[in-house]
Parts: sequence; structure tokens; C-alpha cells
Amino acid sequence: MGKSAKKIGILTAGGDCPGLNAAIRGVGKTAMIKYGMEVYGFSSGYLGLINNEYQKLGEKSLSGILTLGGTILGTSREKPFKHKEYDDYIQSKPDMILENCSNLGLDALVCIGGNGTMKTAGKLQELGLNVVGIPKTIDNDVWGTDQTFGFDSAVNIATEAIDRMHTTANSHKRIMVVEVMGHHTGWLTLYSGVAGGGDVILLPELEWDPEILKNYLLKRADQGKPYSIVVVAEGVKVPPHGKFKSKKWESAGSALARLIEDLTGLETRETILGYIQRGGTPSPRDRVIATELGAYAAGMAAAGEFGHMAAYKGNNLISVPLEEVAGKTKMVPVDHPLLGHARTIDTCFGDIKKQG
Ligand code: F6P
Repeated sequence: MGKSAKKIGILTAGGDCPGLNAAIRGVGKTAMIKYGMEVYGFSSGYLGLINNEYQKLGEKSLSGILTLGGTILGTSREKPFKHKEYDDYIQSKPDMILENCSNLGLDALVCIGGNGTMKTAGKLQELGLNVVGIPKTIDNDVWGTDQTFGFDSAVNIATEAIDRMHTTANSHKRIMVVEVMGHHTGWLTLYSGVAGGGDVILLPELEWDPEILKNYLLKRADQGKPYSIVVVAEGVKVPPHGKFKSKKWESAGSALARLIEDLTGLETRETILGYIQRGGTPSPRDRVIATELGAYAAGMAAAGEFGHMAAYKGNNLISVPLEEVAGKTKMVPVDHPLLGHARTIDTCFGDIKKQG
């Protein structure tokens, strides 16, 4: 435990997601109102810390932002510990960060971000900065927490998109492939795929076989089902099959659509959902999660509980050491109950072994 923080900085780093402003508001208002702290917001993630770009936040600047998408602070994918990038600067980036924080007299820094952000936060803590982490991402892949905010909003957006595929697929009697984000994990694909009634759901966590996929889609066509919806995670590898080879630059969705048409002879189209999954207003659930995690993180700073990330274990808020979080990814377990439940309604995961 460190000394209670009186002056804190906040930053948002990595890919944006719905709920970031709700979290900034949760931390900032709790810090100011409950603990009487001074609060500073750094611009563009770790870049703002390096370049010393910040603004003092007041209660007024945190009002009216709960429902806003994106982040009022801006974000970037800056990784200050990537050595090759030091060259442009006289000092190393971590040294610049330490100096800027010390000049401003910061007692603690609240870093809101995903896996990469938590890794950097852990390294800054090792260098002597007092850091508190808050997990966010549409991917839901941060180790050490059951929930990240951003995920629920993205599930809603992707589900609505899949819902809309059904009517157009039915009109044209086509197979529709929908590619969903999630980086190397399949959380978003699994949840939106089940919610949107995907017939096939392909995840990076499950090894799949094109023959199984082909037989399943042809069986549906034989049964007189006029169309099929295939939901695929962006991180899925589409293996070569017969004469089929995916192009190096090709997305999973586009390669998969070509493969399916090749294998089945059925007309197939793809849709890559892309960044709409990250944009716009957060869902009510994400607003709640972000507010709770934010308020809890401010409490951690007040209690001097540094080097930890605010997290959920079930419905309870807890704090997890950053060293446990750093460098890990929370994958969908192959025995996740939702996989088993989806299989009972004949959802195809394209896999040989009936896992989960
Ligand atoms: O981590 C969120 C995420 O949207 C991933 O799902 C996706 O792979 C990645 O970010 C895209 O990153 P960028 O914004 O750098 O293109």
C-alpha cells in the first residue's frame, strides 16, 4: 500500500470503445467529490504523458459525457517501452514520462485500456510511478477480470447487424459471412453469433475443418433451409483447402466467403463489420460497468492501492495485481458453457472434437 493520492492523472490508451467517457467521469467525479483530489487528463494515451500534454479536469468538464462514445481525452497505440522509437527523442520515453509526472506533482496515474495498456502500466509501476488500471475493450480479453466495458455495446451492435443479414440472405437464398472484431479472441463473435442466431460460428480458440463446415452448410440446403449465416472472428485462420489458398492480405471474412462458395457451390457474400463495432454511445450496461470500475479505481488511488487493476470477479469489484495481468490474454475457454448450449441447438463451430 502506498500513500493516499491527492493529485491524479487519467489517460485512455489503445483502441477506443464505448464507455471510455463514462469511466473518465466515474474516476474523475469520485476523485474530486468523494476524495477531494485534483484531477488531470492526459491527451492521446501514453503519447500525452511523453509530450506533457494534459488539462486540468473540473466537475464541469466531466458533465454531459456519460453517453458520449469515443474518449474526450483522445487515445493512441503509443507503446513507450518500444526501444526502437526512442531515437527521435533525447531522453528515453519512460524517463520523459517520469519527469513529466514528477514536475506536475502527480501522486498516481489511472490508465484506462486493454492488455497492451495494462502491460505498459505495470512497467511504469516498476519504475516507481503509482499506477491504477481500468480494463476496457470490445474484445473482452483482458486477463484478471470477468468483464470489460465496451464489450456489451459491441455485442449489441454486432447482433443488430447479424439480425439484418437474415432477411437479405433469405431474399437471395445466399450464405452470408459476417466478420466480427475481437483481435485474437472470439468473445464478441460467440456472444453476437449466438444472440444473432448464427448457424455457423467460427472462433480462433477452436480448430475447425472446412469439410465439416461444407457438410453442415450442404445439409442445411438439402433440408430446404434457404440460407445460412456464418459468423467468423477476425482472428480465425482460413486454412488452404484443395486448390483454395487465402491471399496474404485477405481478411478472415473474405477468405472464408470464397472458400465456402468454392466448397459448396452456393452463392456467398461477406460483410466485415469493422469499426462500427467500436463507435457510438455505450449501452446502459457498459455505462454501469464503466462507472463502477471508475469509482472503484478512484477508491484504490485514495487507499494507496497501486500497481493494481480494478476488475470484476462475478458481480463483485476486486483489485488484481498488474503483474498478474500483464502479457496474458483471456481466451474463450473451449469448455465455455455457451458453446455447449449453442451446440444443443445445432450451431456448428466447425470443429472436429466436440469441445464445450
Ligand atoms: O482491441 C479492439 C480492436 O477493435 C480489435 O477488435 C481490433 O483487432 C483492433 O482493435 C483494431 O485496431 P486498430 O484500431 O489499431 O485498427
